[in-house]
Amino acid sequence: MSAEDTLKQVAEEVSVCTKCPLHHSRKKSVPGEGPANAQIMFIGEGPGFYENEQGRPFVGASGKFLDELLGAAGLKREKVFIGNVVKCRPPGNRDPMPEEIATCGDYLERQIAAINPKVIVTLGRYSMGRFLPNAKISAVHGQSFQANGRLIVPMYHPAAALHQPSLKADVERDFASLPALMGKAKDAPGYEEEKKEEEPQPPEEKPQPKQLSLF
Ligand code: URA
Ligand code: SF4
Repeated sequence: MSAEDTLKQVAEEVSVCTKCPLHHSRKKSVPGEGPANAQIMFIGEGPGFYENEQGRPFVGASGKFLDELLGAAGLKREKVFIGNVVKCRPPGNRDPMPEEIATCGDYLERQIAAINPKVIVTLGRYSMGRFLPNAKISAVHGQSFQANGRLIVPMYHPAAALHQPSLKADVERDFASLPALMGKAKDAPGYEEEKKEEEPQPPEEKPQPKQLSLF
C-alpha cells in the first residue's frame, strides 16, 4: 500500500474507532494531516475543543502559535505532518491516560512508518514519552536524539509556552534551530532519502574537468 493510501486508511479507521473510552465524548476524531512525503512530523498531545469540532489538528490558540513557530522556522504548514498521540479529545482537555495513549499508539505508529520522516518533533511531555520515555523535558528540550534512523526532537507544547513566558522564549529558540537540525538529519546514516514522487530527471551534464593553467 502506498504511504498516501496508508494515511487514508488510518484516517478512516480513526473516524469510527471505538477502541478506547475517549470515543464516548468525542465529536470528531482528529487523525492528523499533512503530505505523505513530509520530511518532518509534529506530534502533539490530543485534540482540544476546536480540534474536536473541526476534526483537524492544532486549529485553536495553540495552533495559531504553532503556525507562527513554523513560519519562523521557514516551514510551511502544508508541507509538514501534524498529528497527536491520541486522536480523540480527552473530556475537559484532561491529560490523556497511559492506556489511551497505548491503545491509540498503533495509529500513530502506522502513520510514522508510512511517512518515514527524517525528523519527529514531539510537542509536550506525553508525546515525548512515546519516544524518549525517561527524558525530562526541561533538560532535553530542543536537543535531538537518533532513533531508527531519524531524529527525535522534544519541544515544549505550544499551549504550555503560551501560558509561561519563559517557556515561550525556549520554544521559539528551539524552533529556530529546526532548519539546522533538518540538515543534520539528512546527513545521518540510515536515512533513506528516496521518498519523493517526482518525475525522473535526465542526468545532469557533468562539467568537464578544467585544465589548470599555471600561467
Ligand atoms: N493541542 C494538542 O496537543 N493537539 C492539538 O491538536 C491541539 C492542541
Ligand atoms: Fe480510537 Fe484513538 Fe479515539 Fe481512542 S483516542 S477511540 S484509540 S482513535
